[in-house]
Amino acid sequence: MRISENKIEEIRSAANIVEIISEFIQIKKRGKNFIGLCPFHNEKTSSFTVNEEKQIFHCFGCHIGGNVFKFLMEYEKVSFVEAVQDVARRVGITIESNDNFSSEKQSQLELLYDINNTVAKYFSDNLIIKKDGEAAINYFNNRKIKPQTMRSFGLGYCFPARDALVNFLKDHKIDIEKALLLGLIGSSNDGRLYDKFSGRLIFPIFSPNGRVVAFAGRVFNEKEGTAKYLNSPESPIYTKGRILYGLSHAKDEIRKLDKAILVEGYMDLISLYQGGIKNVVAVSGTALTEEQTILLSHYTKNIILLFDADTAGIKASMRSIEILLKRDMEIKIASLPRGEDPDSYIQKFGKDRFEEIIKKAINFVEFQSAIFESQGMFDEPSTTADAIRELVKPIALIKDELKRNLLIKNIARKFNLRERLIESELDKVITQTTKLLTGEERAKLRQNNRNEIVKDDSLIKKTSPAVYNLEREIIRLLFEGNKDIIEFVAAHIPSHEFSIEIHSKIAEIVYEACLANEEIIIAALLEKFDDDKVQSYIIELTFDKYRTSKKWDEIHPGASQEIILEKYAKDIIRKFKVSQIDYKISNNRKEIEQTSNEEERFDLMKVNRDLEKEKSLIINDLN
Ligand code: CTP
Ligand code: MN
Repeated sequence: MRISENKIEEIRSAANIVEIISEFIQIKKRGKNFIGLCPFHNEKTSSFTVNEEKQIFHCFGCHIGGNVFKFLMEYEKVSFVEAVQDVARRVGITIESNDNFSSEKQSQLELLYDINNTVAKYFSDNLIIKKDGEAAINYFNNRKIKPQTMRSFGLGYCFPARDALVNFLKDHKIDIEKALLLGLIGSSNDGRLYDKFSGRLIFPIFSPNGRVVAFAGRVFNEKEGTAKYLNSPESPIYTKGRILYGLSHAKDEIRKLDKAILVEGYMDLISLYQGGIKNVVAVSGTALTEEQTILLSHYTKNIILLFDADTAGIKASMRSIEILLKRDMEIKIASLPRGEDPDSYIQKFGKDRFEEIIKKAINFVEFQSAIFESQGMFDEPSTTADAIRELVKPIALIKDELKRNLLIKNIARKFNLRERLIESELDKVITQTTKLLTGEERAKLRQNNRNEIVKDDSLIKKTSPAVYNLEREIIRLLFEGNKDIIEFVAAHIPSHEFSIEIHSKIAEIVYEACLANEEIIIAALLEKFDDDKVQSYIIELTFDKYRTSKKWDEIHPGASQEIILEKYAKDIIRKFKVSQIDYKISNNRKEIEQTSNEEERFDLMKVNRDLEKEKSLIINDLN
């Protein structure tokens, strides 16, 4: 069934996302949002946020988000249409049969999905056709793929006749133009149509929701000159860099275990799945893309790379490490014995031995240094220095200050070096790679006395120095870019509550960006302020942020980063609120002393008593 866009919008706007989500999970009001524990990943602090005004939800932990339909699709595991019907029922809107047409574009895409679906069924049916399908079945049997696994992954076969699929499409009156668009068939110079996948084993590629968006075809026997795998071209329903093979099968398990294993190949994933390892996705041949990383981060932040032990595999691992680090994913790297891939390994040695391999996964510093070691780079002092410099580079990609510190410690310990030395290497890399400042901005910064703005009395006059400094500390905390923390701050301190106008403005923009799931990039943030003074102010604050994090580490040695950050945020918000109230109280006191009007004095004293009460509430709440 298809429902018109107008109707969908009518239904969506009649529903209140807060009410509907509240029926499934507990959320409570914080500031202008509602927050609660995210139902889509394991967490202890609430990152799941519902914005009533915008009618959207978002989890700052696992980055899943969307409108009310998206929530139901994910939570109830239903299709879009089912989610719309569900909401319609709840709000008492009936969907008439004449609502069941859709906009031109939507139906075009649906037609493409329909074709892929029909063709996938055709390919998989081919397997059970006696004689003709036998070769394919034998191939899968030889590779120990069970019939149930074949069904579950929709494996199939495209007959070797050059036009088997073409004829099937014609017989079933399927739009040939669309089949061409999907890359199922091709058209030769003389206009003859032919099957793109003829004679190949078929692996349908699914969207995260389980719809067939493309196909991969494998040859039976590797022959020189023919590509082992042939993939559908990109199409309106398939963007290569946005799909992870196997995600639709693996996503629940990935969420449950809060961990994903990343492998290279289709067969790797299928064999692992069959062998009982179900939290796996495959990058399938290309380098991991940023979009795939974001997609994966909706389900977990913990990734184990398990690439082939050959040079290509190692290169792919290194590239993937960089992309994953940029997204602040936790990465470990597992390795198989030479000559094995995940498929061959689990088939030979079974699930338990495979799990041992996963348990032995190491962090990327260990991984890279092992590679450098095998290349003999640590045999000489000069190459050793190069190697250490290389090891430091990826650390610069990590945005999380505390994680960086831990890795620096790791390297220092491993090579018996002073931490300071590695820090200075890191600083060099950061200066080289930072996009924070253009040359012009750097010059501007040099011109400005770094403390000039800090000492600007006009700013402090409106509030107490204590409040002012705490506000600055909070803005720095926001610049750390940790979404959980930003959300936490936003929930407690609406942007207008900052006493300094610049702070309000910055907070507003950071909150906004965070809610829109945009990354907090200082360089981009600067663009939003025309005022030079504000820009310099931000840069100056950013530079100071290193100091802040070091302090946390000293105060809470050994605590996990999450706990430290949360503690720190609570602490500073409490101090800020208390100082703000103290400032008001002391102003009132002055007025009480000065006024001769009894009534006014009485009112002011009442205000102060209320402020004292508010203060103790805050202290209780944020302890
Ligand atoms: N690949 C591709 N095109 C090729 C070769 C490989 O797209 N010509 C992708 C496929 O997704 C493949 C992955 O790269 O699954 C890994 O390649 P490889 O290790 O060669 O294949 P396996 O997955 O091990 O497949 P098999 O076990 O069937 O040989
Ligand atoms: Mn293989």
